[in-house]
Amino acid sequence: MSAHRAPEGGFFMSKILVTGGCGFIGSHTIVDLVENGFEVISIDNNSRSNEVIMKGVEQITHQKIKNYKVDLCNFDDTFAVFQENTDISGIIHFAAFKAVGESVEKPLLYFENNLVSLINLLKCVQEFKVPHFVFSSSCTVYGEPDQVPVTEETPPKPAQSPYGYTKQMGEQILNEFCKSSDLQCILLRYFNPAGAHPSIAIGEMPLGKPQNLVPAITQTAIGRIPKMFVHGTDYPTRDGSNVRDYIHICDLASAHTLALQYLEQSRNKKPCEVFNLGSGEGVTVLEAIQAFEKVSGQKLNYVTGPRRPGDVVAVYANNQLAKDVLGWNPKYSIEDIMDSAWKWEVRLKADATVFGSIPGELN
Ligand code: WQD
Repeated sequence: MSAHRAPEGGFFMSKILVTGGCGFIGSHTIVDLVENGFEVISIDNNSRSNEVIMKGVEQITHQKIKNYKVDLCNFDDTFAVFQENTDISGIIHFAAFKAVGESVEKPLLYFENNLVSLINLLKCVQEFKVPHFVFSSSCTVYGEPDQVPVTEETPPKPAQSPYGYTKQMGEQILNEFCKSSDLQCILLRYFNPAGAHPSIAIGEMPLGKPQNLVPAITQTAIGRIPKMFVHGTDYPTRDGSNVRDYIHICDLASAHTLALQYLEQSRNKKPCEVFNLGSGEGVTVLEAIQAFEKVSGQKLNYVTGPRRPGDVVAVYANNQLAKDVLGWNPKYSIEDIMDSAWKWEVRLKADATVFGSIPGELN
């Protein structure tokens, strides 16, 4: 419970700002925060998300979450949110563009959006003395690791894309900012987030054709995509396809709540600490497809295609530090991920009316 005794003897709850709160990870994290006693507000300009997801958040939490439809690259508009909420005690910063391929085509769009938004936020942190900050980083900072599983000590490699560079630079900006301020910060390096909340009231809503494996599988199986390509089966792995670490979105969400509680209880040893958030299991693309077919009973229509530029051969996490230090205990398997992702895809099709069109389609 993150209620704290207020001066007048009552209780107040820590107010957390979630940026990108209408997104896949943001919405699931808001649910977990509320269920753990935090008060939450969101900033999301919905350029890459659908505000309709907040209906699902409210369905689960029975609380209406205020979303400020603000572009974090607009400093004045961002500052105004802090002026209206001077009691923000922590920020979880998800809002960023994250399509690797798009970042290669439009590097300036990615450097401007992902870095200006972070810098504007930190200017507000400085002005309003916000004490705690959790940053959405990525396993992409490891590039092609020399060995797996990777630990937090595994040296970052040159990024594979401008998107990856924005995550590495974001980490560096926060490290330096924490040295010159009182901010206490956690960097969370996600592996491959996937799946949906067990209630199936919220899930992933990729805009346009999905780049990521799990929504590509479920959209192929439901018929939104005619067939799926496996990007290469000639890699030096056990079945020739890439190895990744798929982490259930609810396990990922709970780690953010634990990270905030860790900072609120001043248990951190350094002003800026890093944690890997992966299941610790390496799964190949073909094994992921087999897991989907097993839990859904659907035969997937896929063909083997050429390798995808920028893909690393294999990366998965050593997640022991988050378990030992944050008390994190990821509990969902690749089968749970596929089961929940499939049920969400089925719901999206059945409830297209609820979401307007199929949510996430480019308007
Ligand atoms: C996984 C594997 C593809 C689609 C990305 C980001 C990373 C992080 C996680 C945010 C690869 C293969 C995929 C398809 C396929 N995001 N694949 N056919 O590239 O590991 O990581 O998401 O933090 O930063 O880069 O995830 O799901 O795109 O690909 O064969 O239609 O599935 O080649 O081997 P990736 P992904």
